[in-house]
Amino acid sequence: MTQLSQKWKYEDIDWSLFDSSKVNPEIVRIIKAGSVIEHNGSDYGRYLNNVFENDPVLRKEIQSWSADEIKHGKVLADWVKLADPSYDFEARFKAYVKGFPIDTQTKESIRGSCGAELLTRCMVEIGTSSFYTAVKDATDEPLLKQICAKIAADELRHYKLFYKHFQRYQVKEQLNFFKRFKVTMSRLLLGEQDDELPFAYYIANCETAPYNRLHYTKAYSQIVYSCYKKIHIDRGMALFCKAIGTNPQGWLHKVLTYVVFKTLSLKAAKYAKAVES
Ligand SMILES: [Fe+2]
Ligand SMILES: [Fe+2]
Repeated sequence: MTQLSQKWKYEDIDWSLFDSSKVNPEIVRIIKAGSVIEHNGSDYGRYLNNVFENDPVLRKEIQSWSADEIKHGKVLADWVKLADPSYDFEARFKAYVKGFPIDTQTKESIRGSCGAELLTRCMVEIGTSSFYTAVKDATDEPLLKQICAKIAADELRHYKLFYKHFQRYQVKEQLNFFKRFKVTMSRLLLGEQDDELPFAYYIANCETAPYNRLHYTKAYSQIVYSCYKKIHIDRGMALFCKAIGTNPQGWLHKVLTYVVFKTLSLKAAKYAKAVES
């Protein structure tokens, strides 16, 4: 397993690496979406703080996690401003929070239990870690490569953080394999039925047409899916198998890697056609 990464600061980014001739406008569009979602880590932090009200140890770590996510949003926004100086991050972020509010008052996990909440967080961190690794490998722009490598390392650290606490809750909750599988799969399947990503893409790119989830899911996903190589899915599925308590290198890992990679490749081509027409 990869070594735990060191924390990094905003000042550690070497902004002089930026090369405008290597910017891919399609990637700029998905990084704009990422900047508003990540920056919204403060509201997610509030939600998790409420859910884990009686767990001071985890609450402290949530604070640090939330600060990381906000930092990701700022770094991505600042990269976009270099690539597209017309990007008004502050206005786009405001519009995103207004259009996609998170219930920060709830005391109960929307996943049914604290263990299920932590397992779901593991899934989200697998997704983000894979995403930034895939974009790092897909882009030729050296500054974005550096930024994505640093963020991907943070996301892997976040996965390990939530997994560590999940194991603690698991002693009490005893979620069996099928329950874990159900929780994790429902997060995976939610992917394309949720407004978070398509709405962020829509709002961050100042789209003028009325919002349509299906259309913007396709527009966003066709760019993202085309960044993925089999190796990214392979690593993500190993973390997924570990989270559900099965061998990260066993037969299920191989089957899932094959099915997920094949599905993403087919969808990338199908969505690209749909968006063009
Ligand atoms: Fe993040
Ligand atoms: Fe994260």
